Amino acid sequence: MKIIVEKNYEEMSKRAALEMVNIINEKPNCVLGLATGSTPEGLYKELIKLNKEGKVDFSKATTINLDEYVGLSGEHSQSYRYFMNDRLFNHINVDKSRTFVPNGLAENIELECKNYDERIAKLGGIDIQLLGIGNNGHIGFNEPADYLSMDTHLTDLAKSTIEANSRFFDNIDEVPKKAITMGLGGIMRARKILLIASGASKAEIIAKIAEGKITTQVPASILQVHHDVTIIVDEEAGALIRK
Ligand code: PGA
Repeated sequence: MKIIVEKNYEEMSKRAALEMVNIINEKPNCVLGLATGSTPEGLYKELIKLNKEGKVDFSKATTINLDEYVGLSGEHSQSYRYFMNDRLFNHINVDKSRTFVPNGLAENIELECKNYDERIAKLGGIDIQLLGIGNNGHIGFNEPADYLSMDTHLTDLAKSTIEANSRFFDNIDEVPKKAITMGLGGIMRARKILLIASGASKAEIIAKIAEGKITTQVPASILQVHHDVTIIVDEEAGALIRK
C-alpha cells in the first residue's frame, strides 16, 4: 500500500484528483469506479474545475458507482444517483448514459446485482476504484461481518452506518436500512484502488487498515492484499499511522 499524507482536506482532494486525471488522460475510454459520501466532494469539485479548464476530458469515460440505498429513486435528494448527478455528472462532459449506479428501486434486486457484475465484466473491469472508508472499516457497503461477499449484493446497513448517515436525513428513521453494494470481488478486481480519508475521526480506522491484521470485521483490511492501492489522507486522518 502506498500512503500519501497531505496537509489538509483541500490538498488531499487535489492530490486524489490528480491520480484520477492521470488515469483518464492515459486512457480516455477508462472505467472509473466512483464513491459517494462527504469525503470525495472536494475531489469531485476539483475534477469539475479541471474539466472546465480543459485539463481532463470525460467524453469517452464510463463510470460505475459502488452502491445505492434500496427504496430511494434517483430523484430522491439522498440517493447516490442524485448525489453523483448533483456533485459531478451534471457539471462535466461525461455521457450520462455511461454513468452507472445500482437501481435502488429494482423490482428484482437479485437480478439487478447480477446484471451489475456482468456490466463491470463487459466493460472490461474497473481501471481505478475510488473508495471512502466508514469508521467501522466498510468499503462500499461491505459491512463488518463473519463472512464477506465477492459479488454485488443486497446488504443490511450496520447500525453505526445508519447512525453516521442519519446526518443527511431529517431523522434516523428515514435512513434506508438496506443497500445494494458492489462486493469485495468487484472492488479487488479493479486495476488500481484509491482510498481517501480526512479528519481525526478516521485516524484509528486508517491505521487499522494500513497496519492491522486482515479480518472480515474490518472489510477494508483486505485491501492490503491488492497490488496497487494508494491511500491519500490528510494529516489528521494519517495521525496514527506508525511507519
Ligand atoms: P464519508 O463516508 O466520506 O461521508 O465519511 C465514507 C463511507 O462511509 O464510506
